[in-house]
Amino acid sequence: MYGRGHPALRVFTFHAMNDLKNKRPLIVGVSGASGTIYAVRALKYLLEANYRIELVASKASYQVWKAEEGVQMPADPVKQEQFWRERAGVATGGLLRCHSATDIGANIASGSFRTLGTLIVPCSMGTVAKLATGVSSDLLERAADVQIKEGRKLVIVPRETPLSLIHLRNLTTLAEVGVRIVPAIPAWYHHPQTIEDLVDFVVARALDQLDIDCVPIERWKEDAAKL
Ligand SMILES: Cc1cc2nc3c(=O)[nH]c(=O)nc-3n(C[C@H](O)[C@H](O)[C@H](O)COP(=O)(O)O)c2cc1C
Repeated sequence: MYGRGHPALRVFTFHAMNDLKNKRPLIVGVSGASGTIYAVRALKYLLEANYRIELVASKASYQVWKAEEGVQMPADPVKQEQFWRERAGVATGGLLRCHSATDIGANIASGSFRTLGTLIVPCSMGTVAKLATGVSSDLLERAADVQIKEGRKLVIVPRETPLSLIHLRNLTTLAEVGVRIVPAIPAWYHHPQTIEDLVDFVVARALDQLDIDCVPIERWKEDAAKL
């Protein structure tokens, strides 16, 4: 707890808290598309880099967790924070606050709550459709709709294949209002060795759109550019 313990720890905690206080939070939305690992890896790097995160997972995402990882994500916001931290392997660091998707009165539902922007990872075609038509049927959609109306950064990582004309039209509508679309499509030129390498590439490119550089990926000819 802040204010207790060894003096050196108190100084460190004070600075860490102050650092956090001065940072606006990033909203992370997790919808019911395949690829919960994308959300886990994004959280890992954001929390390790001491970001403040306001997280909301859609109702469908619970089912995807069950199908992909065989685990039940807790609905209780405090237990869910613990769940995400365990999955991401980041016990402390940053600030993570989870919200229930039904809590449409949460801070992130209001435009007066200032943020760094929003990342929806992974993003289902259902969420894409609802955002493209302004339907705010849960907190995730409302929070993202607010980012669009406030002219803030909204980055989505859609995952579906093949894409129908309806999907493409909805994605176009979002692109037209400034939403940045970073499909869950990895690259191969960085010689990925693991699934995490593939996932991290997508996560890094999504966070690039928010000017957040905290994922240790090898960038194309970066070393050569520095010479
Ligand atoms: C295991 C599983 C995987 C799914 N994968 C995808 C997917 O990759 N892309 C997608 O658009 N929908 C996918 N869906 C369907 C969505 O979860 C469904 O359309 C849901 O209504 C989306 O709701 P949401 O956008 O509120 O999360 C998947 C569903 C399940 C159960």
